[in-house]
Amino acid sequence: MAKELVAGRKNNQYKIYIGQNSISKKNLVPLIKSHKKLLIISDSGVPKEIIQKVHHISKATSKIFAFTLNQGESSKSLGNFQKIINFLIEQQFDRSDAIIAVGGGVVGDISGYVASSYLRGIQFIQIPTTLLAQVDSSVGGKTAINISAGKNLVGAFYNPKGVIIDTSSLHSLPTREFRAGLAEVIKYGLIQNKKLLSLLSHNIVNILGRQPGIVEQIIYESLKTKSKIVTQDEKETGIRAILNFGHTFGHAIEAHEKYKKILHGEAVAKGMLVASKISCLEGCISEKDFLKISALLEAYGFDLSLDQYKYLDLKPFIFRDKKMQGGSLNLILLTGLSKAFVTNSFNSKNLKLVLS
Ligand SMILES: NC(=O)c1ccc[n+]([C@@H]2O[C@H](COP(=O)([O-])OP(=O)(O)OC[C@H]3O[C@@H](n4cnc5c(N)ncnc54)[C@H](O)[C@@H]3O)[C@@H](O)[C@H]2O)c1
Repeated sequence: MAKELVAGRKNNQYKIYIGQNSISKKNLVPLIKSHKKLLIISDSGVPKEIIQKVHHISKATSKIFAFTLNQGESSKSLGNFQKIINFLIEQQFDRSDAIIAVGGGVVGDISGYVASSYLRGIQFIQIPTTLLAQVDSSVGGKTAINISAGKNLVGAFYNPKGVIIDTSSLHSLPTREFRAGLAEVIKYGLIQNKKLLSLLSHNIVNILGRQPGIVEQIIYESLKTKSKIVTQDEKETGIRAILNFGHTFGHAIEAHEKYKKILHGEAVAKGMLVASKISCLEGCISEKDFLKISALLEAYGFDLSLDQYKYLDLKPFIFRDKKMQGGSLNLILLTGLSKAFVTNSFNSKNLKLVLS
């Protein structure tokens, strides 16, 4: 059963359509019909059939242009940003034209940033095709590119005009990428969404088997939580920080691995284990709840070993993390299952203990 959600504040709201085959005339045409020109941005790893479907529907209302990036994180670059901007200028795109991002988080992030800055902002539509992009990067308005000093250091908060999440896009996704997206789904369950946590605990085989009904449900529940939080706190000055549960340690692990070998979701799974263990050592959650969390992560096939990550190796990355504020480290911990909070008051010995 197709579902819809709304995100964003009044005057800046956008709809999120979730369902099998939701890339349809019914959902797409109302979003694009006012734009004479559309640029479809994708990458070389996005299945051609998905791009063709978007192209086929869009050409009935607009003149279509295409820009294909090489697949991979390195495409989220200043060089590609410039190339896309030049292309828009060559094709004489004006403020009434728009961009459609068809792909994973890489495509969504750079497309959104181009849209936010070209002519001081043109509209863009997100059609995320990886699980991570469907449950996370396509909603919330964060757009970015990477520069040599670090990942996502240049970007803007810029909401899309609409988001179309077609769950049938996920069939072609490699198992590792699908599982990496599930880490973010588990995160929403652990920080706030009890119903989602229960769905995750009771449907492991069907979820890993990508059974369409349950996959649609967990995406819907994930985005219900994300859209509620980002609508409350669009620019991450408060509650939105809880979306970073597991990410302080996850980012440190990714950076330590130089963004090779380990996927973001795989690092976040380890990071959630670390944050849960600290929550337990701080007396915020029981040992029983900690064991439930680690069993759930294990059931979804995450490698939870931390042996290769020592405190001293991760420390520089942990303390460089954007959750640092006014010189002290903010951690997102749990006070129970589906209850996260932000704190800078914790015993730093516990942090060292978990990573020793
Ligand atoms: N803006 C945000 O709020 C936010 C949140 C989380 C992550 N991100 C960003 O998202 C990026 C990671 O996104 P990702 O995990 O989607 O990676 P990705 O965009 O690199 O996609 C992973 C791979 O899957 C391929 N692919 C895409 N759709 C496919 C499909 N349907 N079938 C088969 N292959 C497909 C892509 O070509 C790519 O090779 C990072 O740059 C990260 O910083 C942004």
